[in-house]
Amino acid sequence: MRQFVVLGHDAPTDADFSLDDLAGGAGRLDLLSRCVTAALLRSHGVREDVRVHLVLDDSVTISFRGEDVRRLNPDERSTAALIRQALQRRRDAVGHQPVETAPGVSLTRLGLEATLGRIADDGGILMLDAEGTPVSSVTPPADPVFVLSDHRDFTNAEDALLSGLVTGRISLGPVAIHADQAITVAHNWVDTDGFSR
Ligand SMILES: C[S@@+](CC[C@H](N)C(=O)[O-])C[C@H]1O[C@@H](n2cnc3c(N)ncnc32)[C@H](O)[C@@H]1O
Repeated sequence: MRQFVVLGHDAPTDADFSLDDLAGGAGRLDLLSRCVTAALLRSHGVREDVRVHLVLDDSVTISFRGEDVRRLNPDERSTAALIRQALQRRRDAVGHQPVETAPGVSLTRLGLEATLGRIADDGGILMLDAEGTPVSSVTPPADPVFVLSDHRDFTNAEDALLSGLVTGRISLGPVAIHADQAITVAHNWVDTDGFSR
């Protein structure tokens, strides 16, 4: 399985936002929605072996499971609506237990460290960083967990935490690209066994 953990620094943690202002008042939820679809959708289908986790303000994690998700469309607005629907159920997520808010979509009141703790055993954690080790010199792991930031840099605290957890910091190229674009390139890197076929 492939997993993507995307850190949302400005995104809302409650449902009080407009679907008409995703890039502004909703703290770049447009970008986070594109990350979900870049991770899970392929042409005419869903990547069933992929999960994506949006960590919002280091306090709430919304997870999408490719094997179970339904009604996921390529447009940002309908994906943001699934995120808003999840946030409407935030109070139902008791302790660290997830609440299923739509088929294949769940919300957990966990931040980055606890979310990574839950999935770390699933595979090696790779931090995506334009200044990391070029992927051309790395073999893709079988079950990678990629960690990305949104439109902002990783904070110092996130960087320090990740330094102790990741198996590597990898660069997809010398040019910094958007997070959803980085997901697409990371998929291609794994799909092609490290650009070898
Ligand atoms: C728009 S960037 C974050 C902004 C940051 N100032 C920058 O220029 O990297 C979004 C995220 O995508 C990933 N990313 C972007 N370009 C990348 C690259 N060339 N290699 C690896 N990861 C990249 C990183 O995780 C980054 O934090």
